[in-house]
Amino acid sequence: MAKVLIATEKPFAAIAVNGIRDVVEQAGDELALLERYTEKSQLLEAVKDADALIVRSDKVDNEVLDAAKKLKIVVRAGAGYDNIDLDAATAHHVCVMNTPGQNSNAVAELALGLMVMAVRNFYNGTSGTELKGKKLGIHAFGNVGRNVARIAKGFGMEVYAFDAFCPKEAIEEAGVKAVASVEELYSTCQVISLHIPATAETRNSINADLVGKMPKGGLLVNTARKEVINEPELIQLMEKRTDLKYVTDIMPAANEEFAAKFAGRYFSTPKKMGAQTAEANINAGIAAAKQIEGYLKEGCEKFRVNK
Ligand code: 3PG
Repeated sequence: MAKVLIATEKPFAAIAVNGIRDVVEQAGDELALLERYTEKSQLLEAVKDADALIVRSDKVDNEVLDAAKKLKIVVRAGAGYDNIDLDAATAHHVCVMNTPGQNSNAVAELALGLMVMAVRNFYNGTSGTELKGKKLGIHAFGNVGRNVARIAKGFGMEVYAFDAFCPKEAIEEAGVKAVASVEELYSTCQVISLHIPATAETRNSINADLVGKMPKGGLLVNTARKEVINEPELIQLMEKRTDLKYVTDIMPAANEEFAAKFAGRYFSTPKKMGAQTAEANINAGIAAAKQIEGYLKEGCEKFRVNK
């Protein structure tokens, strides 16, 4: 009997945990739960006898992998796996997977929610503007970007996208205007929605040069990762460009400075909330459980992201 551990500092909805338990127990395995842990030592203790691990943005580094002597697989219930040290996992003979697409509608809905809040001046009682007719630039056209496009069309926005890895034809097939460069996306669109992963190439890539290309009244929406933003440059730019707004679901390292300097032009959720819906938790959590059982019982490696 394998032991599957859910280790989530930010817990799933209870209904999702029940669904995961059903999948694991029906496969003849056992579920253990570590939620809302506050110290890494708690995670190190809990992983000791786990054969499989389900995490969210929880950090799985070399130390965690060293402690998890029996671990065979870790599934990041979600899209981005920048929280997992892939090389260390490979060195420990641990398979790493994600569950792409399972929480993308939730994140997309939150992105649109942040947009509405920003163009309505954070509901401060003054007259705002509407999303209808505005040009939206989707930066990276993956699962979340596609859902943002679908919903934004319902709002009557004019939707553009740029994705370094997605062919123009695939973007246009989805009824979205593909632009030739990231610079063109930013100079064309009043609203930019970020959906790039945090990688060596994208870290700090959203800088003053790029955001400074946005037209007057530009709104930058971040439901991706804080690491992609060059925070010092964005702060300097927003000091100069008093028309720009920044709304984010990932609190910046310089949150206090942003909040103090840009009242009425800046908002951050206190904790990343994009994927925090019952539906997304159920979809991603159950997918993770099924992928674990598929790997343990049949060796299925679909969605493996390390070597
Ligand atoms: C993801 O990469 O799937 C999202 O950023 C959601 O992350 P979370 O599970 O930590 O909320």
